[in-house]
Amino acid sequence: MRISFDIYRRLGVIFMSREYGMASGQIQSRLSAGKGARSGPGAAAFAPIVGRDGELGLLRQQLADPSVRLLTMTGPAGVGKTRLALALMEDLAGGSQFLDLAGHERAETVFEALSAPGETGRLIILDQAEHFTEALAAGLPRLLAERPRIRVLLVSREPLHLYGERVLRVPPLARVASVELFRQRAVAVRPGFSLASADGAEADDLCELLDDLPLAIEFAAARLKLFRPRELLNRLRDGQDVLYGGPTLSHHSSMREAIGWSYERLTGPEQAVFRRLAVHEDAFSPMAGTGIAPEIVETLVDKNLLVPVASPGDEPRFRMLNAVRSFSRDLHSPEPAEEPRTAPHTQPLTPREQEVAMLVAQGMTNRQIARRLGIAEWTAVNHVRNVMRKLNCTSRVNVAGWVIREQPVATALD
Ligand SMILES: Nc1ncnc2c1ncn2[C@@H]1O[C@H](COP(=O)(O)OP(=O)(O)O)[C@@H](O)[C@H]1O
Ligand SMILES: [Mg+2]
Repeated sequence: MRISFDIYRRLGVIFMSREYGMASGQIQSRLSAGKGARSGPGAAAFAPIVGRDGELGLLRQQLADPSVRLLTMTGPAGVGKTRLALALMEDLAGGSQFLDLAGHERAETVFEALSAPGETGRLIILDQAEHFTEALAAGLPRLLAERPRIRVLLVSREPLHLYGERVLRVPPLARVASVELFRQRAVAVRPGFSLASADGAEADDLCELLDDLPLAIEFAAARLKLFRPRELLNRLRDGQDVLYGGPTLSHHSSMREAIGWSYERLTGPEQAVFRRLAVHEDAFSPMAGTGIAPEIVETLVDKNLLVPVASPGDEPRFRMLNAVRSFSRDLHSPEPAEEPRTAPHTQPLTPREQEVAMLVAQGMTNRQIARRLGIAEWTAVNHVRNVMRKLNCTSRVNVAGWVIREQPVATALD
């Protein structure tokens, strides 16, 4: 069974991702120091935009086409959609109007605001439109018909699937840009921070682990007040929650909240598939022999809980960003505080976990385990975390103790 992307093509989805080729020449890793939008909501606008020349070029190109009346910019929470929209607004230098829909409680007030007489030829930017997906899908066609000179740029975690809607998917930052973003945020909390120093050496690894997701990078950098970059990296690799709730420039109070919002809106079977797919840390193809309905995978991609990646063959492949996966991991395991610390029982380990436990007992780091087993580091982090949880261990030394006592034999590889 295979997912067809025809539905996206029919709807005019353009993958902004480098991996999808269409925009490959345009997504440059050049850094651009923007001037910072003068208008628009939130403190995010005060910091210069980093990178995104390619995406801005693509947006401009789409808007140059007069037949495009409804353009939807979509992507995972924290990928930088709002920041990009603000940069576009600055670029257009007037003639656009920015409306943050999260500030509206009812769809009627949104449409009242939209129906107010304005200049002709306006571009109306509707941010956080995911809060009104149904209402907009029902009401926008009429609005666009009644006001033939306006155009709408929707910024949303999911497209509306309207006829004529053009969809642009925003990918994470190019590595050079994400490292630069990390540097800028790091300097703000640690004035002496420099990429050339010992502290700076971890920036690339941190960005890699954070999937180059701007919001995750900002949360992590905010933690530099407390931790040096190496400690931060180790904590992340150990699966510790350092990404949530930190002070950032952004309106997001936490990434978990944003991802949780999308998760809560899934149906029960969709949630079950989401949790099931979250065990994959690398790219995977959910079709082959899994019995997972392609429609559900399509929904998860649509809501940006899964991201499509380049596929060598015909079979489509996807990934779940680490931030999203770590959200789903928390759905499986109870909060540590609720866990009975002294419970004597242990749960059986999978063969892979036994293997990981043995490597931990040999004193290997997560990275070394990942290399040895040919898996992603993040996977190793999760395995170690699961092993510790199942064995009720609070340290790697405890795990080694268990291995020595039980002498498990890894019987199979995943
Ligand atoms: N290209 C960028 N340059 C600088 N900061 C960025 C960039 N992209 C995102 N950010 C910052 O990362 C955070 C998350 O971005 P945001 O646009 O709010 O994400 P989204 O709207 O996709 O949820 C914000 O604080 C934003 O200012
Ligand atoms: Mg936003």
